[in-house]
Amino acid sequence: MISLAILISGRGSNMESILRAIKKNRIPVKPAIVISNKPDAKGLKIAHKLGVPTAIVESGGQKGGSWEYDKKLVSTLEENGVTPSNGLVCLAGFMRIMSPEFIRKYRGRILNIHPAILPSFPGLHSQRQALEYGVKYSGCTVHFVDEGVDTGPILLQAVVKVHENDTEETLSKRILRQEHKIYPEAVRLFAEGRIKTTGRKTTVAYESRPLKK
Ligand code: GRF
Repeated sequence: MISLAILISGRGSNMESILRAIKKNRIPVKPAIVISNKPDAKGLKIAHKLGVPTAIVESGGQKGGSWEYDKKLVSTLEENGVTPSNGLVCLAGFMRIMSPEFIRKYRGRILNIHPAILPSFPGLHSQRQALEYGVKYSGCTVHFVDEGVDTGPILLQAVVKVHENDTEETLSKRILRQEHKIYPEAVRLFAEGRIKTTGRKTTVAYESRPLKK
């Protein structure tokens, strides 16, 4: 069975949606560890309530993208059984860029959720970017993490309508509801070994179910 680590920095609502789906036996993974780089991340308390081990790996001034910091992450992951051969690392509002060394080590086993329809509006404040651009639809994307910022192969996307009177807050809320659906679904597909990646393209294999008579 896949061992899952979820990396957070704050609220942890995506983490919660994944952990709750696991508790309901909808995803065949072991929730091994929740790691935060912020000691006061709200999500830590939620993980604790749900009975999932937590760890804090503080940045200590080490910049995003530094292997110095990511080495500490790797130790914590490995101590908790999340290895490059059996692990899955889900970034869920983890506000650090991963180092190329980390990505190489866990390649194909790191997922992220982004609050826009990639490749539109990568980086920070995507909902604000979408409103300022004037798009009529936005949404969210679960993708594999590669060396770029929000550039890895796309796994799932969900679309929401942008309303004329939307603020960053109302649009973010509408997108977040979809995030909570597609992230657990993506983890399930990964855990069930149904995702095939060829270059940038991912395909999902579904079991064929016998027709009911
Ligand atoms: C979400 O909007 C996610 O798309 C982005 O960061 C936010 C994290 O929210 N990457 P939460 O901590 O999961 O509530």
